[in-house]
Amino acid sequence: MWKPTQAGATVSVHIDGAPCRVPADSSVASVLLQQRKVIWREGRARTPLCLMGVCYECLVWIDGKQQQGCQVPVAEGMEIETGGEHAG
Ligand code: FES
Repeated sequence: MWKPTQAGATVSVHIDGAPCRVPADSSVASVLLQQRKVIWREGRARTPLCLMGVCYECLVWIDGKQQQGCQVPVAEGMEIETGGEHAG
């Protein structure tokens, strides 16, 4: 569920282990696009496509759970992994 935040607010997340400050009102998928991150799944490069929950091209691991990045808002301390198979 998205909650309005103060304009210009940011949160700190980790993308593939690297710390990153991102706009607080962003979805995980939009952050990955902003950061030019490629999602790897089944040995192929993917990128969010529809941004509305239809195509599943945005599947990533978020805090250890595989989810559609376009349907999840970023949150402080979130761990995002784009590497495909979850290393655990
Ligand atoms: S970008 Fe299509 S389901 Fe998320």
